[in-house]
Amino acid sequence: MVILGIESTCDETAAAVVADGRTVRSNVICSSVREQALYGGVVPEIASRRHIEAVSGAVQRALDEAGLRMEAVDAVAVTFAPGLIGAVLVGVNFAKGLAYAANKPLVPVHHLRGHIAANYLTHPALEPPFLCLVASGGHSHIVQVDGYCRFRVLGRTVDDAAGEAFDKVARTLGLPYPGGPSVAQAAKSGDPHAYRLPVPRVAGKYNVSFSGLKTAVINEVHNAAQRGESVNVPDMAASFQERIAQILAKKLLAAAADTGARAVVLAGGVAANGRLRQLVNDGAQKLGARVFLPELKYCGDNGAMIAAQGYHEFLDGNTAGLSLNGLPTLGIDYR
Ligand code: KG4
Ligand code: ZN
Repeated sequence: MVILGIESTCDETAAAVVADGRTVRSNVICSSVREQALYGGVVPEIASRRHIEAVSGAVQRALDEAGLRMEAVDAVAVTFAPGLIGAVLVGVNFAKGLAYAANKPLVPVHHLRGHIAANYLTHPALEPPFLCLVASGGHSHIVQVDGYCRFRVLGRTVDDAAGEAFDKVARTLGLPYPGGPSVAQAAKSGDPHAYRLPVPRVAGKYNVSFSGLKTAVINEVHNAAQRGESVNVPDMAASFQERIAQILAKKLLAAAADTGARAVVLAGGVAANGRLRQLVNDGAQKLGARVFLPELKYCGDNGAMIAAQGYHEFLDGNTAGLSLNGLPTLGIDYR
């Protein structure tokens, strides 16, 4: 079964063709990130405009690269939630028009379910149940994946998402957007023990909190400035990365130990972080759990992950009519 996946929730206009939820036939990504970087973050209005310009060409290229015409596609999957609503609606409306014109089923896909499904592209043997940390620019969840379309949230951030914390710290340190890759790059030449950053306390055994950590970095930068000094950027980047990766890995591994998870999985943009991957890999192996990490090219937003999850949503009977709307927020465990 061949699914066309369309994604437009943030600054990537993406389209892809995936067979049977596992085999990527094409994966086209048009990003407005360079333009967004001029403003230090995503400007929703700019994102929406770039999606409108790019979506048609991205879908055509995805079909061309897969060597398929629309007739050969079995269903059109599209991210309908959560995300920047103006951006989401571009993909949703394009998908609706395409599904209607080509007379194909329309399959709404939750963005975070898509991030998790990116792992099915990389690991043919991976099947639920497993425990997953989904960490992106807008969300940080520890999720029990009971089935391809069945999710239970065990823990979440009570304030900033992990990716958001990377982005804000990068901005404070004068590093470019997106913050995750630039902090990771700066951290390479830094000492992770140079700055003592706090370990946040938070109610809920598997919940996380990053706003205190972010504030601690801002305070260090301001205090240094008041003394006429500046923080050592690589050292601060390394110290911050070490702390946030330790927090995420510790919570995920605690949940894995408590639930007796046999498989531990990472997903979302922050899953590209090398230190986080290393800590989760080492910790899960000690627990005797298998570890599945998405390929770096499938960590960030892409259409293939939406097509992969779309396949399972379709098999589960989760199709939509032309009244489908985009939603800015929606829990991953919706039914
Ligand atoms: O999943 P994603 O591409 O988009 C959203 O759904 O938000 O995640 C983007 C986030 C950004 O905050 C970005 O800074 C972060 O993922 N990110 C990273 C890395 N690469 C991207 N964070 C830490 N380390 C990285 N290597
Ligand atoms: Zn995402």
